[in-house]
Amino acid sequence: MCDRHNKEGDCFEYVESGMPRVPMSCKINGEIVHKMVDPTMTLLQFLHKDMSLFGTKEGCGEGECGACTIKMNGRAVNSCLVLAAEAQGSEIITVEGLSKNGELSVLQKEFIKHDALQCGFCTPGMLMSARALLDKNNDPDLEEVKEAIAGNFCRCTGYFPIIDAILATAKKEREGSDHE
Ligand code: FES
Ligand code: FES
Repeated sequence: MCDRHNKEGDCFEYVESGMPRVPMSCKINGEIVHKMVDPTMTLLQFLHKDMSLFGTKEGCGEGECGACTIKMNGRAVNSCLVLAAEAQGSEIITVEGLSKNGELSVLQKEFIKHDALQCGFCTPGMLMSARALLDKNNDPDLEEVKEAIAGNFCRCTGYFPIIDAILATAKKEREGSDHE
């Protein structure tokens, strides 16, 4: 049993530390949020527990798999490695922030079109690493795409459809096309 199991044997279960909570304000998917947070709580746990944003996934819980990737102040970040309290003053985008008015983003549509997902567990993290890349570089080459998703593990699709989807998104976004 790992040291993160609770007494019921569930791994990754968040257990309140009992330490005094600290104030934290940030912007999540465009909305200003003010909360009192347990200083030991990770940003990933905060997104799940306090914000009910379950799109961001927990794979390893220790910065290895990239499933928990979000955009924080413009950079792709593993939310399992950041404390919620450290998000003070930051601007966060999670996978839920990619779609607008119920319509999937170009990036999400291209993932679907290229069959760039199977179980989907890695997909939110992949999408956020890709989004962070494309927001900085709208014309990445193959190596730049590979490097951007190097910290994201996918065990079921193989990476080629994912890379193709990201390159196709870059092209569509450069052409200003939101549609198929
Ligand atoms: Fe954060 Fe794996 S859950 S890197
Ligand atoms: Fe299953 Fe990537 S789609 S791990």
